[in-house]
Amino acid sequence: MTNRPAHDVVVLPNVVALMEAAAERLITRAAAAIGTSGRFIVALAGGSTPKALYELLATPRYAPRIDWSRVHVFWGDERCVPPDHPDSNFRMASESLLARVPIPPANVHRFRGEDDPARAAAAAEQELREFFGTGLPRFDLVLLGLGTDGHTASLFPNTEALRETVRPVVANWVPKLNAHRLTLTFPVLNQAAEVIFLVTGTEKARVLGEVLRPAQDGPAYPARSVRPTHGRLLWLVDEAATSELQPAGGQ
Ligand code: 6PG
Repeated sequence: MTNRPAHDVVVLPNVVALMEAAAERLITRAAAAIGTSGRFIVALAGGSTPKALYELLATPRYAPRIDWSRVHVFWGDERCVPPDHPDSNFRMASESLLARVPIPPANVHRFRGEDDPARAAAAAEQELREFFGTGLPRFDLVLLGLGTDGHTASLFPNTEALRETVRPVVANWVPKLNAHRLTLTFPVLNQAAEVIFLVTGTEKARVLGEVLRPAQDGPAYPARSVRPTHGRLLWLVDEAATSELQPAGGQ
């Protein structure tokens, strides 16, 4: 049993290099998963950061290196809006990637953000159970972003979903947004074979430094609770986001 650190942090010089590294890692994971199980099951991140990765994966330099017929796409979270809404994570991923690669429509498993949140969460849970079978879903790869308040997916500080220990997906009321969000829960995130956080920009430097500090008595940042029990945790960050990081020796 190697005493590998709880996570690997890879610093890239800029966003382009970071997205290229993420694309290469995803392609490697996809080939391994397809080789082992005949399929690659990935949960996409929402927000703005991953859009550049999705656009890169859709280019002729990367798209042909993935057997899209074997890829199944889910989301880590979704806003409670219709799929064609500007805020929809599904819409962002569809426009930047899924509409541009030959992935079978049946392999795209979106949250029904247009429905009543509790009903949409129940439907998503049923879909996960039908797809993965009983027990906790184990994604081959989960992509995540990091909010400046330390949230990830739609696991926001001081919200109910942080305490979910059984259900794989819930409708989470987020007071600061005055809205529900649909989100995978920590049990599922921590069941993944690999989790990759994508963090870029100076505005994330403070929270990244806080989240990656070893022990701390400060606020409990939800992203700190993402620790795959039988999987790899990789932080891909650009230099702009590392100004508050302690040197490796200090970790
Ligand atoms: C969402 C995401 C959310 C996001 C962070 C970072 O639906 O918004 O799931 O967790 O990853 O808020 O967002 P940016 O990438 O836009 O900074």
